[in-house]
Amino acid sequence: MTIFTNHKAAIATGFALAAILIGIGLAQGGQMPDIFGLARWGHFLAGITWIGLLYYLNFCHVPVFAGLSAETKGELTREGSIVRRVLWWFRWGAMFTLIFGLVLLHGLHKNGAMGVDIMIGAAFGIIMWFNVWFIIWPAQKRILGIVPGATDEEKAKLGKRALIASRTNTILSIPMLFFMGASAHFPIFG
Ligand code: HEM
Repeated sequence: MTIFTNHKAAIATGFALAAILIGIGLAQGGQMPDIFGLARWGHFLAGITWIGLLYYLNFCHVPVFAGLSAETKGELTREGSIVRRVLWWFRWGAMFTLIFGLVLLHGLHKNGAMGVDIMIGAAFGIIMWFNVWFIIWPAQKRILGIVPGATDEEKAKLGKRALIASRTNTILSIPMLFFMGASAHFPIFG
């Protein structure tokens, strides 16, 4: 069945299932989600896509990759490869997390409900997004040859730079998620 063999069909099926359940809930008098409700849902989906791949890269990919043969590395990073797909979902996950996050911030601001906890969580999230789009991805583009011309020495330097940014994001993700959750449920700074 396509929904089990094609990931796009699986995603579409998930949305269809959600729509059916929401429809049943609404028919029974449930509350129609407003733009902020939908943005929150999008924020979670994009956020887990992004951070899931960040953890995959940091905990699974990077520790093993350095020890692979040049041939295997080439296979894993050529056009259409695993690494290219990971980086695509990773950077767009980060972008949509930010966009939905900014919509949510706007909602909190409008309601006068923007406390210190969410400011800490969002600030960490924005730093992480910056690291993805302005440090990790530009470095990877040159390392993978999407932007050609980097020497081996330059690639090694870029690799270190990308790794530091990626490890920084792994570290920041932990307090970031705590404060993001704290803001609505268990205020620390308010
Ligand atoms: C990129 C910058 C980010 C910004 C600007 C941002 C902003 C926000 C805002 C404003 C809220 C509060 C929503 C509300 O209470 O109405 C929120 C909630 C949340 N965010 Fe983020 N966020 C960012 C990154 C992330 C990331 C990377 C994740 C990882 C999965 C994430 C996960 C969550 C979760 C789970 C909540 C729900 C908290 C709850 O209601 O318990 N956010 N975010």
